[in-house]
Amino acid sequence: MSIVASHGGSSSNPNHADGPELASLTGLQAIGQGRGALQAAVAATVVLEDDDRFNAGTGSNLRLDGITIQMDASCMTSDGVFSSVAAIERTKNPILVAESLRGTPHILLVGEGATEFARKVGYPDHDPTTRAARDRFDKVRAVAGLTDGWSKADLARAWNFATPLREALGSDTVGSVAWDGQTFAAALSSGGTSAALLGRVGDVPLPGCGLYAGPAGAIATTGDGEYIARSLLAFRAYEELARGHSAAEVVDWGLDQLEDDVDLGLIVINRHEFAGGARNRMAWHGCTT
Ligand code: GLY
Repeated sequence: MSIVASHGGSSSNPNHADGPELASLTGLQAIGQGRGALQAAVAATVVLEDDDRFNAGTGSNLRLDGITIQMDASCMTSDGVFSSVAAIERTKNPILVAESLRGTPHILLVGEGATEFARKVGYPDHDPTTRAARDRFDKVRAVAGLTDGWSKADLARAWNFATPLREALGSDTVGSVAWDGQTFAAALSSGGTSAALLGRVGDVPLPGCGLYAGPAGAIATTGDGEYIARSLLAFRAYEELARGHSAAEVVDWGLDQLEDDVDLGLIVINRHEFAGGARNRMAWHGCTT
């Protein structure tokens, strides 16, 4: 049996579930071609990075300067792979760069080094900025009181408020999980939160925070990265899975963690099932063969 599930990020529009559906079917197709769980999770995540309705790759959020996009991505397998990039710029598919890092002794590259590495391994300059991302940023600026200039701005107001900033922020990280009958894999990619300082890194490139894969299954979370990272959410959810809880039970368990106003979602697979859910809304899809 093979399983692939993908999500378009917490607070993504469920009417856009065709995106995660295409992603997970692309992942299943990769497994059908003999490419394995890691390649399946990565291929599925590339589909979502290239879909500008989601906050990853093309379509990522702008930082608080209104110009810069910095992205995080990671992949992990149950047989020991973990590699990630953080605050990478001007790259079409950060997940492919994270995956390429497996060819080096390192597990995480950041900022300029990550972007340079992308060029070295063949990923050319690409501007991921979209009109929709600029529009989202304009809403954030208005809600956060940045319209009168930066010196008067109360940046604390821009951080993770439930309303009305929630609407302006749009959605979070995309992610995929895969099982090829032998190995579990998870992949994540993110444009980060809208109200983020230059150099901010969330949960995505940190093992056990945004994602985890082990012999019992794979987890891909989405939501407010600072909270997810502080709680090692993906690893703790994996421990629930390893204790024998079903995928749906682990989703419910996960959604009960963290403070009430934190934006949060996750997808979970084990050897025979998938489940997903979010506190707000979320476009996601799972499929099996
Ligand atoms: N969950 C993605 C982030 O906070 O960056």
